[in-house]
Order: sequence, then structure tokens, then C-alpha cells
Amino acid sequence: MEKSTLFSHIGRPKIDTGVSVNPPIIRASTLLFDKADDLYEGGHRIYGRHGSQVHDSLKEAFCALEGGMGCTLTPSGLSANTLSVLANVKAGDHILVSDSSYGPIRHFCDSHLSNFGVETEYYSPRIGREIKGLIRENTSCILLESPGSLSMEIQDLPAIVKIAKEKKITTIVDNTWSAGLVYNPLSLGADIVVHAATKYYSGHSDILYGAIISRAQRHADKVNATNIALGNSTSADDAYTILRGFRTVIARFERQEKTALALAKWLGRHEKVSQVLHPALDSHPDHALWERDFSGSACLFSIVLKPCSKQQVLDLLDRLEYFAKGFSFGGYESLIIHCDPQLTRSHAEDFAGPLVRIACGLEDITDLKLDLEQSLAELSLDG
Ligand SMILES: Cc1ncc(COP(=O)(O)O)c(C=O)c1O
Repeated sequence: MEKSTLFSHIGRPKIDTGVSVNPPIIRASTLLFDKADDLYEGGHRIYGRHGSQVHDSLKEAFCALEGGMGCTLTPSGLSANTLSVLANVKAGDHILVSDSSYGPIRHFCDSHLSNFGVETEYYSPRIGREIKGLIRENTSCILLESPGSLSMEIQDLPAIVKIAKEKKITTIVDNTWSAGLVYNPLSLGADIVVHAATKYYSGHSDILYGAIISRAQRHADKVNATNIALGNSTSADDAYTILRGFRTVIARFERQEKTALALAKWLGRHEKVSQVLHPALDSHPDHALWERDFSGSACLFSIVLKPCSKQQVLDLLDRLEYFAKGFSFGGYESLIIHCDPQLTRSHAEDFAGPLVRIACGLEDITDLKLDLEQSLAELSLDG
């Protein structure tokens, strides 16, 4: 079955007389039982924190999306990342995290994991099989994000996974960029995939939500046990809305992908742009890896402007009418940020000018292009 058909049907109530199309929202902390013995012995869901029917439907959809055995739902994309790491480390461990990972993950590793005796080492996202040289006796997991946040490096996942498997190291991939629609790390051998469902699955920039999908039951059980121990849960209302996002995500994703690719190509020819960081362009340094492992691209890419002052970049952004300044992507609205303040790297990355990240929404491309065109026209370059 094709994904669009699957996503129209998965997790829906069985058709019966007068049944609703979508699963019901059950808001509950306490669940009641007729027989006292069932509280402990019945094998039932016994408390609201353990979810409800709509949570089960959503987990089923995420497992189908990524080809996983189990899914844990979390209150945000960041918590999906931190929880999947926490489930796979203990005091004394060493972990490897991509230097291009989402910034707040770095903060979690440096400011919190370190308090529990877990050491984080950041590796260059273009390391590939050379990651072998960084592995120690106590390395327990590798956290990847491909393409990298802001700078869009594609990682050689199969090469990294091969070495991780030899050393029995758990690989975790943040797959938010691709929505799981054009890249499936579990099929390339990764153990765990995480999503910030806040992006495409919310689709409307009004919910924070995360999902962790594991290829093997033992990883799924570990993540789930950690989630239960931490006391995390998500509301039925949010689970319902994220599941609703599945019904339309392919149509939205494809349109946003098309807009982003067309804008990236056009910006690649613009006199004020020195580089476009979009992996589907053959000018991208990792284009061959992208072509090998991905079946499409997404709404998000970055550009490197020709050298100009910070004030010129801020003015460029402020002149835009349709690209709002704000973090995130995957919603219906286009967004733009200047990335330099967030670029904290252990491995220096030299860009020829200021970096700007563009997230395309569902607006008409003609308007988006005109918006960028008029603002770029007023940009004064150095010298
Ligand atoms: C790649 C990536 N992972 C995780 C997150 C965190 O998601 P959330 O905002 O739901 O915590 C983000 C947010 O921008 C992201 O870009």
C-alpha cells in the first residue's frame, strides 16, 4: 500500500453504524475498574499517563511511517531526542553527537548529561567511516541528524551504522527534516529514529510534540521504560491533532518540497548569494550521499550570502513580508532566521558570508520569490 493510502486509513476506528471517522479523544487521569482485582492483575491500561486509544493509533502511524516495532510519544521534539539518549546511557559512558545537531540537544549534553557522568564528544558530520577512530570502550550511543540543523550536511549513515553495530553502539537519528517521508534511517540500519512532530505533523505551528520509533522491540522497551520512569505523558487532544496531521502531511510536504527546491535553484543563480545549502542541488558537497539515501528533499534549506554586515542581514529579513522571523519549520507559513548566533561548533565550519535558513510554507511561490527578490535587491554587500 502506498503511504498516502496508508495515512488516510491507519489508526481509524473500525467502520460500524454511525461511527466517527477519527478516534475519540478521551481525557483522563483516573481510569475506573469494576473489580478491585483488575487494578493490579487485569493487564489493562490502569492510569491516564499510559495513554488512550488515540495515543495507540498515533503510535501505530509512526511505526508504519518508519518501519519500527515500537513508538514512544513525548511532549516535544527536544524531549524525543533527550529521552532516547537517556534510555541508552549510564554513568561513565561516552557518547558521540553530530556537531551539526539541533542546538538545545548540545545544551542538554553539556549541561545535564555531564552531571550524571556521561561525556559527550562532538564529531564532524562529514566523518563517515572515520568515526571508528573516535569510538572508545565506553561509547554507548551515537546521535545523528541528517541533514544537519542550519548547515545541511548529509551524513554517511550506512558507514556509521556499520561501525556502530560492530561495537554494539546504539544509533539514534533525528529525522525531523524529512518527516520520515523521503528518508528512513531504520531501513539503513539505525536503531532509533526521533521526530519533532511539532513540525510537519502539527503542520500549523500550534503544538509541541515528539515521537521515538525503534527498529527492535528491545530498544522500544528501553525507551518506553525510561519514559514511564520519568512520568512523561502527552494529552489526548495533542495526540489527536498530530494524528490528524498524518492525513494531509504528504500533500503539504510535497508542495513545500517543490517550493523550496525551486527557490533554492533560483537563489543559486542570485548575484548576492554565494552558496545554497540544499542537498538536492548538485552543487551541495554531500549531494551524492543524498541521492543514494534519500528519495526527496524538504521545505528547509539555508543560503550563504556574499559578505555583508550583520545589520544588512537583519535589514534583509525585516524587509520581508511573507517570510516571518521565527524558529521552526514544517508549518503552513514560511519562516526565515539568520543562523550565525546559533552556530556553536567544535569543528570549525567556514562559510563565505552570513548564513540564513529558509523554511517554505504553503504560500504561492510567485509571492515568496518576489518577496525575497525585492529584499535582496536592497542588500548592500561589503566592499
Ligand atoms: C531537527 C530538530 N530536532 C528537534 C527539534 C526540537 O523540536 P521541538 O521544538 O518540538 O522541541 C527541532 C526544533 O526546531 C529541530 O529542528
